[in-house]
Amino acid sequence: MESIRFAIIGCGAIAQKHVAALGRIGNAKLVGAFDIDSRAAGSFSEKYSVPVFDNIEDLVEKTDPHVLDILTPSGSHGENILDLIRFNRHFVVEKPLALRLDQIDGILDECDRRGLKIYVVKQNRFNPPIQKLKEAIDRRRFGRLVLGTVRVRWCRPQGYYSQKPWRGTWAFDGGVLTNQASHHIDMLIWLMGDVESVMAKTATRLVNIEAEDTGIAILKFKNGALGVIEATTATRPKDLEGSISILGEKGSVEVGGFFMNELKTWNFAEPIEADADIFKTHGKVPEELGWNHTEFFKDVVRSINEVKKGLIDGIEGRKSVELINAIYESAETGSEVALRFAPKKCRLGHEYDSTNLKWKTVV
Ligand SMILES: NC(=O)c1ccc[n+]([C@@H]2O[C@H](COP(=O)([O-])OP(=O)(O)OC[C@H]3O[C@@H](n4cnc5c(N)ncnc54)[C@H](O)[C@@H]3O)[C@@H](O)[C@H]2O)c1
Repeated sequence: MESIRFAIIGCGAIAQKHVAALGRIGNAKLVGAFDIDSRAAGSFSEKYSVPVFDNIEDLVEKTDPHVLDILTPSGSHGENILDLIRFNRHFVVEKPLALRLDQIDGILDECDRRGLKIYVVKQNRFNPPIQKLKEAIDRRRFGRLVLGTVRVRWCRPQGYYSQKPWRGTWAFDGGVLTNQASHHIDMLIWLMGDVESVMAKTATRLVNIEAEDTGIAILKFKNGALGVIEATTATRPKDLEGSISILGEKGSVEVGGFFMNELKTWNFAEPIEADADIFKTHGKVPEELGWNHTEFFKDVVRSINEVKKGLIDGIEGRKSVELINAIYESAETGSEVALRFAPKKCRLGHEYDSTNLKWKTVV
C-alpha cells in the first residue's frame, strides 16, 4: 500500500486531531501545512515539527501531497476548494463540506470531471456503537423504522463565540445546527435514510450571535418514519449530551454520551448471540485524542489506495448540508420544506449587504 501524503490548509483548533490521527497511521504522512495567519502557522510548526510554507503553491510544489486537508472556517471551505482544485489533488474537508448547495454542486461536478476524490470528516460514523447500530439497520433487525431522534445539549457561552470572529455568523458558520449538530444530523440521515420533508423553528436565546443557538426540527423520511432534531448550545451551566435513538418495529437502540460515543440501550425482540456482549465489545469509543478521526483517515487511505468509495464522500457530505439549509428555510418561512430543494430564504453562507439592505452570497 502506498503511503498517502497529506497537507493541512488551516492550522487552527481542529488541526491537532488531524496531526494525532495521521501520526497513528502507518501508510499516511503529514508532509506540510499552510495558514494565512503566519503566527498560527509558526506555532503549529513549532508544536508538531511540521514544515509550513508561505503560500500554497510552495506547499504543493515542495511536498507533492496526494491530499489537501481543508481545516479553515466552515464558510471558507467552498471557496478554498474551488480555488485549490487547480492543483488536481484529492480533498479531505472538515465538516461541513461547504455552506451553500450551489458551491457544493460546483465542487462535486469539478472533482468528478478531474477524477478527484473528496472526503468529508464525519468521524462519529466510526464510533463502535454507531457502526454496530448501522449494521443492525442494514441487516433489517429493526423491522420497519418508526422514529429517529437526535439531541445535542451542549454549553457554548458568549466567550466561545467571541474567541473566533467567524463563529455564529451566517457567512462563515451558521448556528448550532450547522456547527455542533451537523454530526448528529448526518447520522440521522445515514441511519434512517433520505428525508422527504422538514418543519423547523430556531431561536437565539442566550448569546449574541447572528445565527441560532437553539433549533428543533420535525422530519418525515422517505421510508415513512419520523424524526426529531433537538439542538442547543444554550444548555447551562455545562454540557449534557449528544445522543441518538433509533426505534423500530423490532428493536430500540440509544447511543449517548457527549458525542454519540456510549451505547445506552440495545434492545431487540429477536436477539442474536453477539448481543450478549455488545456493551463490552462495542459499548464505547476509546479515549485517545482523535481516535475516530484516525478511523476516518484509515478509510480515506484505503479508499485512495484501493480505488474504492470512501464512507463519507462528497455526495454523502452534501446530504446534511441540504437538510440544514432546508431547516433554515422552514424556520425563515414558517412552512414545511420538501427535499430536494433549492434555498431561497436560507441565510447560511450569506452576509448582510448594508448598502443594498439585503443578504448576499459570500464570494
Ligand atoms: N469534526 C469535528 O468534530 C470538528 C471539530 C471542530 C471544528 N471542526 C471544523 O473545522 C473547521 C475549523 O475549525 P477550527 O475550530 O479549527 O477553526 P479555527 O478558527 O481554530 O482555525 C481555522 C484556521 O484556518 C485559518 N485560515 C482561514 N482562512 C484560511 C485560508 N484561506 N487558507 C489557509 N488558512 C486559513 C485561520 O487562520 C485559522 O488558523 C470548521 O469548519 C469546523 O466546523 C470540526
